[in-house]
Amino acid sequence: MAAARSRFGEKAAVLVETTLLRRRAVDRPGKLGPLGPQVSWWLFTGEALQQATAAVVALHRAARLAGGPDVVVHDATCSVGTELAALHASGVRAVGSDIDPVRLAMAHHNVGATTVLCRADALHPVTRDTVVLVDPARRDGGRRRLRPDDYLPALGPLMDTYRGRHLVVKCGPGMDFDALRRRGFDGEIEVTSYRGSVREACLWSAGLAGPGVRRRASILDGNSPGEQVTDTGPDDCGVRPPGRWIVDPDGAVVRAGLVRHYGARHGLWQLDPDIAYLSGDRLPPGVRGFEVLDEVAFDERRLRQALAARDCGALEILVRGVRVDPDALRRRLRPRGARPLSVVITRIGAGAAGRATAFVCRPSR
Ligand SMILES: C[S@@+](CC[C@H](N)C(=O)[O-])C[C@H]1O[C@@H](n2cnc3c(N)ncnc32)[C@H](O)[C@@H]1O
Repeated sequence: MAAARSRFGEKAAVLVETTLLRRRAVDRPGKLGPLGPQVSWWLFTGEALQQATAAVVALHRAARLAGGPDVVVHDATCSVGTELAALHASGVRAVGSDIDPVRLAMAHHNVGATTVLCRADALHPVTRDTVVLVDPARRDGGRRRLRPDDYLPALGPLMDTYRGRHLVVKCGPGMDFDALRRRGFDGEIEVTSYRGSVREACLWSAGLAGPGVRRRASILDGNSPGEQVTDTGPDDCGVRPPGRWIVDPDGAVVRAGLVRHYGARHGLWQLDPDIAYLSGDRLPPGVRGFEVLDEVAFDERRLRQALAARDCGALEILVRGVRVDPDALRRRLRPRGARPLSVVITRIGAGAAGRATAFVCRPSR
């Protein structure tokens, strides 16, 4: 820093910050590297980079928009231009606007050569006959805004403003989908994960939704197109004791309420109708699963014995439907063997007939 200060004077701090943000944008997995080498010349603020949509997710959305109506997409909260770059890379004609003049100036530097930009409030439409894409701010000066009414701009006014138009809104994955439906949203809710972590829930107005689709899970891994599950597929998934494998479905599938649809597609069944674990004799391609070695009624003493008998060392604990803190349990069990194992703890059966069960498993990888 001292060397930078002697060479660049009072501009040193901002130059160092920009260099560090560029490195973070390009190098950090799940950030902007997949948009191409030009990202290493982009301008950011720390918060703008933090808020930027992961490139893989933005490219997935852009590919979907490329297959939709042949109209211009208006990114009405474009920030420094991530989604605009993804749209451009996917061959979608796009324009951008944002209320923040600093971010807009950065967007001019980053994507201004290919995209028309202007300063505007998303709640006062400045385009007609476009598909409007909005990614409201869900954090502001470090504070997280979890309720859609607290987003900037807020979801309710946004939906009122663009009623009857093609609208795509990126939201937090934890939002209350039932409340959204009660408010009259009749389009598609797409929950997207990237490398196993749930990133967002994207709302597609009815005219942009897949035919008959109300819920979709998109599972992205960055290498292949990813898997999509929708509620238009069959959901005839049985309930049975475990087969060879237990599968903990991707968070996007669980969050979108599509566990049964995913199970039916892959020939899996549920261990309990109310719990998201699936089981089967074959794993879906590329999916990490847990090969069942032992089943014991969940009791710490019995579980400790079962793990010792299997020479358990490193231990991973998965829990659904039972009040257990996996980290605290792992500390108490303290297995000392050599073999890495997993334990899946879950409730099987409802009410008085329900029993907490532990499956000692070998993870597939
Ligand atoms: C989460 S960021 C968008 C990030 C962007 N999609 C990306 O991937 O880089 C939200 C943006 O909304 C902008 N914003 C907030 N309120 C707005 C409003 N009423 N009209 C337009 N933009 C607004 C903020 O300035 C911020 O740039």
